[in-house]
Amino acid sequence: MKVILICLVASLYIHGNDGTTYLPDDAFVPAIIAFGDSLLDPGNNNYLKTLTKANFPPYGKDFLGGKPTGRFTNGKTLGDFLAKALGVKEYLPAYLDPLIKDNDLLTGVSFASGGTGYDPLTSKLAGVIPLSLQLEMFKQYILKIKAKAGEEAAKNIITNSVFFVSANSNDFLTNYYVFPIRRLQYDVPGYGNKLVKLAVDFIQEIHKLGARRIVVFSAPPYGCIPIERTIAGGVNRRCIDKYNKVAQMFNGMLKQEIQFLASSLPETRVVLADFYNPLISIIENPQQYGLEVTDKGCCGTGKIEMSFTCNKLSKICRNDSKFLFWDSLHPTEKGCNIYINLILPDLMKSLFRY
Ligand SMILES: *[C@@H]1O[C@H](CO)[C@@H](O)[C@H](O)[C@H]1NC(C)=O
Repeated sequence: MKVILICLVASLYIHGNDGTTYLPDDAFVPAIIAFGDSLLDPGNNNYLKTLTKANFPPYGKDFLGGKPTGRFTNGKTLGDFLAKALGVKEYLPAYLDPLIKDNDLLTGVSFASGGTGYDPLTSKLAGVIPLSLQLEMFKQYILKIKAKAGEEAAKNIITNSVFFVSANSNDFLTNYYVFPIRRLQYDVPGYGNKLVKLAVDFIQEIHKLGARRIVVFSAPPYGCIPIERTIAGGVNRRCIDKYNKVAQMFNGMLKQEIQFLASSLPETRVVLADFYNPLISIIENPQQYGLEVTDKGCCGTGKIEMSFTCNKLSKICRNDSKFLFWDSLHPTEKGCNIYINLILPDLMKSLFRY
């Protein structure tokens, strides 16, 4: 009786009250682990000397208690929605948070650092945590959960967790197109190829450490990101076709390599989460998603502000629930929520193959 009751409660919890998490009944995800950039950074950058931060108002204005946590948006970010959707917890914490508790560790953390990319030069330019160091932090994390839960339980947590990797935007949009170094060394396909190789290497590294369910985010439509529209979209703030083509090319190469990798790793799911087409759909049909503004951010003018230039002096839009973007680079909580709901059914099918 007791067992049945526990199962019932667990099952209700996993499906949430809206019943839209799509997690199959027999699947249990003990933890989620995130690597990469600002889309998954819940505040790791708070503890670094870098300009790429978001731990001041108006960031976090719609978070619990209006608290700026370091998330690069007004409220919850992708990692939080994913943790919830997988039935794990409401908020995905930052690994570097000194107040983090053992129980937070056991249900997963984020090692992500806003501004980072696959290319080590990208994180260096921004003064943030490269993927190589995120990997070292993950190794340290494994030791911690082993000490807390025991060898066997820790292994189970890692095997059944879902791992998320978000990188590439900073490689192209800040490193490649802003600084000259990589542009002198590589043409666009050459650089894309380098990034894809680095992505595959990274997936292999976390696989070696025990990851068996891995989700990699594709490139978003670079040319439709508000700051890019400001730079090259003219007075009408059009999407820049050239940059969208770069994203599509990169996504094509990434897809191919991930499929190849997935077929070569036994009992492992490596899934590409499409970040391109769902965003295009939202941008082209905002009303369908309850949105009004998709070509600029809510913070300040919405055209250039991000990180330290979106601050307490910035005016903010009247209703950020009508905006896809919070600042000129990052989606609003609402935008994150809409996007996750769009990809969730396919993501769950590929992760749990039902
Ligand atoms: C903001 O927009 C959302 C979504 O359309 C709506 O539900 C909410 O009532 C609006 N809030 C205000 C203060 O207008």
